[in-house]
Amino acid sequence: MQINAFLFDLDGVLVDTARFHYLGWRRLAQSLGFDITPQQNEELKGVSRMDSLDRILDWGGLTRSEEEKHLLAAQKNDWYVDMISQMTPADVLPGVIELLQELQMRQIRIGLGSASKNAPFILQCTGLDNFIEAVVDGSMVTRGKPDPEVFLVGARMLNTMPAACVVVEDAEMGIQAARRGGMFPVGIGQPEDLPSAACHFPSVASLDLDLVLLLAQTDEN
Ligand code: BG6
Ligand code: MG
Repeated sequence: MQINAFLFDLDGVLVDTARFHYLGWRRLAQSLGFDITPQQNEELKGVSRMDSLDRILDWGGLTRSEEEKHLLAAQKNDWYVDMISQMTPADVLPGVIELLQELQMRQIRIGLGSASKNAPFILQCTGLDNFIEAVVDGSMVTRGKPDPEVFLVGARMLNTMPAACVVVEDAEMGIQAARRGGMFPVGIGQPEDLPSAACHFPSVASLDLDLVLLLAQTDEN
């Protein structure tokens, strides 16, 4: 099938906000008396704010009421928003603007499928909003990744069939969402962290667009 859209994850793919999420959650865990390892953080990638908090409390062996959980999530988000509000176009990851321009030149449509409710703010701070035609963020879906909803809504907004979409993701949860949605999933990161991806690149800067299009267009899954 001819590929006519790319749907990007935001955190860890277009911008390096994954480390800010980690700093925020780590600070919260430490305030509760325990710590989060980088490996545990890997499991939080692509996971919604409240689901992340549930996992973290579980790791710390803690239970909290719904009201307390909302306060904890708001605290983490305040710290996180403090960090991201300093972002500028210089914080867009290497190779991203070049890739987006190349896609535009080839008339391949560009969408965003992010679990983050802060996605529109980050796109605005970094100027990425100038490139992205359809934005689906965490406030627009009811089911988080690995459910495909976020990408299916994006494909629909771009007037595109799921099978004509490539998804670019740094989280195994997001790769699984793309697969379940019938899209071609490209992993950004280490193959061992992204076992379900159809192909991998260490970063967006190293993504080989011709190779991805060739693989995606001949994919039979
Ligand atoms: C995802 C991140 O993009 O968004 C997760 O990978 C994060 O780490 C999730 O928890 C929700 O983000 P936010 O900004 O709505 O708290
Ligand atoms: Mg991500």
